[in-house]
Amino acid sequence: MNVLGIESSCDETGVALVQLPPEGGVPRLRAHALHSQIEMHRAYGGVVPELASRDHIRRVLPLARQVFIDAGCGLEDVDVVAYTRGPGLAGALLVGAGVACALAAALGKPTLGIHHLEGHLLSPFLSDDPPEFPFVALLVSGGHTQLMRVQGVGEYDLLGETIDDAAGEAFDKSAKLLGLGYPGGPALSRLAEFGNPEAFELPRPLMHSGNLDFSFAGLKTAVMTQLRKLGPEVCEQPKADLAASTQEAIVDVLSAKSMKALKATGLKRLVVAGGVGANRSLRTRLNSLCRHAGVRVHYPELHLCSDNGAMIALAGAMRLQSGRAAPAHDYAFDVKPRWPLAEV
Ligand code: KG4
Ligand code: ZN
Repeated sequence: MNVLGIESSCDETGVALVQLPPEGGVPRLRAHALHSQIEMHRAYGGVVPELASRDHIRRVLPLARQVFIDAGCGLEDVDVVAYTRGPGLAGALLVGAGVACALAAALGKPTLGIHHLEGHLLSPFLSDDPPEFPFVALLVSGGHTQLMRVQGVGEYDLLGETIDDAAGEAFDKSAKLLGLGYPGGPALSRLAEFGNPEAFELPRPLMHSGNLDFSFAGLKTAVMTQLRKLGPEVCEQPKADLAASTQEAIVDVLSAKSMKALKATGLKRLVVAGGVGANRSLRTRLNSLCRHAGVRVHYPELHLCSDNGAMIALAGAMRLQSGRAAPAHDYAFDVKPRWPLAEV
């Protein structure tokens, strides 16, 4: 069985084809194609929703064509069409949902609306070292920061989440203050390599709060305060030091809370997913802490950390496999720009 996946929730258009092995086991990625809108949005310093939607319209069918060429099969081989139903930008989501439902209707095949974060959460199953259930998941993207207890496909219990900004947002907003442009996370982490992470004393909000919630909004204020102190002409070294100190503060909090979640649940497996999961410093820290705690830690392949169609096709395939999803022949689609993962 082949599941076509379409992702269009924000600034990446992704299409992929995943095959469910008839004998069971982890679904196999046959092909995927991706277009990032980063260059288009860069001029505006962030994602412009209207432009994002229009670009998804332009890209999605050519990307689908490419996927079928790479997979060596055709539309007639698709059994289910999965698409990102939410959360995300409403207009952008509607493009993927509309195209998915139109394709499915033309083929007479069912559709499956997928939660974007479920895609991220399951994406390490496409890696060479797939996890086993149950595990603790640290979901760190541009819009979400959550710790979940994952018992199986569709069995997600929220352990803690951010009460204000997401970790990715903290990277992006701090990077903007440092004049590093968009997207901020990768730029800030590149600059941080040249800086001293102990140069600036920045807050670790809620680090010792006793629960598993996060708060990152205060961090950008602290970065702004330090920048003001440095004056208008900031030299390269203090800038790199501030980038390194910011990254260190975020990594400290994310890793401390992840270890706390593992301890609280008694689980010995951690999955890290979402765009911030690509951060080298975070990976190094978690690898070291988990090694000492006897915990296995799993990540998606680096190129599947950010948004992509493969994780949506995979989540569709795994939901089908687990019997948790009933694909529908009802093509009157809707999208859910706000949608808690625990409600899937
Ligand atoms: O998961 P994702 O691609 O999109 C959302 O679903 O939000 O995550 C994007 C976020 C952005 O905030 C971006 O700055 C951040 O992930 N990001 C990083 C890195 N690569 C992407 N943050 C820190 N270090 C990175 N290497
Ligand atoms: Zn995402």
